[in-house]
Amino acid sequence: MRYVLGIDVGTSGTKTILVDGDRRVVASKTIEYPMETPRPGWTQQDPALWWDAAVKTIRIVLERSGVAVGDIVGVGFSGQMHGMVALDADNRVVRPAILWNDQRTQSQCDEMVAACGGLEGLVKLTNNRMLTGYTGGKILWMKQNEPENFAKTRAVICPKDYIRFMLTGVVATDVADASGTGLFNVRERCWSDEAIEKVGLPRSLFQRAYESYEVAGHITAEAAKLTGLPEGLPVTAGGGDAVIQTTGTGLVRQGILGVVIGTSGVVAMGLDGFKENPKGELQVFCNNAKHLWHAMGVTLAAGGSYRWFRDELCQDLVKQAAESGCDVYDLMSQEAAGVQPGCGGLLFLPYLSGERCPYPDPAARGVFFGLGLEHGHAAMNRAVMEGVTFSLRQVAERIFAMDPDMKPEKIILSGGGAKSEVWRQMAADIFGLPVVTISGSGEGGAYGAALVAGVGLGLWKDLVEAAGNPVEETRNLPDPNTQAIYEKVYRLYDALYPSLKPCFDQAEGLR
Ligand code: XUL
Repeated sequence: MRYVLGIDVGTSGTKTILVDGDRRVVASKTIEYPMETPRPGWTQQDPALWWDAAVKTIRIVLERSGVAVGDIVGVGFSGQMHGMVALDADNRVVRPAILWNDQRTQSQCDEMVAACGGLEGLVKLTNNRMLTGYTGGKILWMKQNEPENFAKTRAVICPKDYIRFMLTGVVATDVADASGTGLFNVRERCWSDEAIEKVGLPRSLFQRAYESYEVAGHITAEAAKLTGLPEGLPVTAGGGDAVIQTTGTGLVRQGILGVVIGTSGVVAMGLDGFKENPKGELQVFCNNAKHLWHAMGVTLAAGGSYRWFRDELCQDLVKQAAESGCDVYDLMSQEAAGVQPGCGGLLFLPYLSGERCPYPDPAARGVFFGLGLEHGHAAMNRAVMEGVTFSLRQVAERIFAMDPDMKPEKIILSGGGAKSEVWRQMAADIFGLPVVTISGSGEGGAYGAALVAGVGLGLWKDLVEAAGNPVEETRNLPDPNTQAIYEKVYRLYDALYPSLKPCFDQAEGLR
């Protein structure tokens, strides 16, 4: 049997797994670490934490699996996207990495858009808008606010690229993470020299962008000593987590929609060819094979809205769950199941953290709309679930609009929300599509990393073979009566943000 190692350099921890040629996870280890928030809205991490966790998790996985290292064909990567790791002339880290969820760069993003002739000009070059999370704005922020660090910087890479560098000595990136800088020509799968020049950054900062499955280096003697991996073992480029994890959930061609209800909600589809993203509403990135692109949009507070409802408004259920030893989310689901779909005209807008897609608007805020004396706790509970799901449908509709022939067959649902039967059926009824959950989707980025690396290293012929036939664990079909109710409610939901936009802007002055 041959094996491949997948490493996910995440925000809360690094996870390493070993996968065999039959796609089974034979060993897994995660080591967690903290995130610094030096000011509200700022997030940073010391890359040394990732390296320490990577070395330890690799060692532990090799030991636990008992596999002969000679049977391992190579290493693949997944990583938190958009983080800025700045390296000096000796490849030493210049400052803590600024992470994907950092919000300090709004004025730099505005400046970059203006330098490219407005949103349309930037989207023409990169096929994406410049979100505050993206790497591009962070580099300009360092240039303007930390000129001494900027002067020292010779290369900017993303978090998983740093771990690949420590293992191989090669400083490089991949096409998915490069897409997430906001300065990459996603159509041609190469850097946009024009965008980089227009925003006033040196082209030399940006490193070679490999396809995710390509070998980008080999384990050095020093890394071999530290990790137990054999010197010379091939290391593939890997990719950003939001993209590379889709291979592990079977999104290997156009037509299957992936929906993750985690803290944020991610709606994603593989695209069989390049597609324009004219208004920059979606994130359209390079995907895990040369012929494949990736479209996604994020609802910032999906499971996060439901967790807020639990923490702020479900004290009774939390107590009941603690006393009976059951999961409070199960009790919340049971309560929501007792309410009619549509909640008698009560709607919830899930903009508790502002929003990213379809409305990139930090000023947007959460709303209960249509509240009457007849509504109680249970209706508010169900309205939160429905509001999150309507928001995910809005993202999905932007994806479907990219191609009139795009006919989604089904939705693969994952994340914490997928554990609720009520939420799975609700998703089927609101999207009007079968909703399935599959085995193995919980392994996340590390699994996708191993599968994509396995393709590059000859374990599997292509992504379709690597993904195999994931086993369906649950399947929910839309109920035509409920679907008809939700169609009407969705029309109202869709009208609310545009009507409330001026009020959100006004309310910002009150905070
Ligand atoms: C993708 C994104 C997140 C991070 C978190 O655009 O911001 O998925 O990659 O890991």
